[in-house]
Amino acid sequence: METQIIYGSQYGAAKRYAHRMAERTGIPMIPYDKAEDLTGCSTIIYIGGLYAGGVLGLARTMRNPNFKPKRWFLITVGVSDPQDEETRRAIREQLQKQIPQEWFSKAQIFHLRGALDYEALKPSHRILMSLLYHRTKKQDAETLSAEDRAFLETYQKKVDFVDLNQLEPILEQIQNEL
Ligand SMILES: Cc1cc2nc3c(=O)[nH]c(=O)nc-3n(C[C@H](O)[C@H](O)[C@H](O)COP(=O)(O)O)c2cc1C
Repeated sequence: METQIIYGSQYGAAKRYAHRMAERTGIPMIPYDKAEDLTGCSTIIYIGGLYAGGVLGLARTMRNPNFKPKRWFLITVGVSDPQDEETRRAIREQLQKQIPQEWFSKAQIFHLRGALDYEALKPSHRILMSLLYHRTKKQDAETLSAEDRAFLETYQKKVDFVDLNQLEPILEQIQNEL
């Protein structure tokens, strides 16, 4: 398969975007934990949920010895608002730390907004979020980043910021390059 959409999604938001992308382009989609054979895969569109700054499944996918795309696109899906410049910068800084430089410089990176339903979180995630909440809440309000504020505002709530229309400009850009 020359072009693949690979997605990493725990609660479904990244999967919804991947599904729309597959529908609009005809490119097959596969979850990261099933994307074992990347032989001959020259273009990868990776769509993954953000978890503590990391992209779900990306590290594992990149460890695949056949991860050698000629071009690749990375679309992150997080609860913080990527319209905010500071948020985008923070996400990218985190990405740069986890993606080897040669692949980071090759990537075309986009950001979309996801969803969060605290009642549906698995216990380990609930505990992590609670720890993070209490730590963030103690911080001086002036030192909070836009990401921190978004986190505090959505804590314990059910929010769904998925907007499939936000995929359109990304799709256009990707299609121009395929
Ligand atoms: C444990 C945990 C950590 C998270 N960390 C981040 C984060 O660092 N940045 C962010 O924007 N969103 C973060 N989120 C929100 C998720 O990125 C959001 O729920 C997204 O929709 C997840 O994708 P998925 O629904 O496809 O799994 C976190 C959510 C959980 C449960």
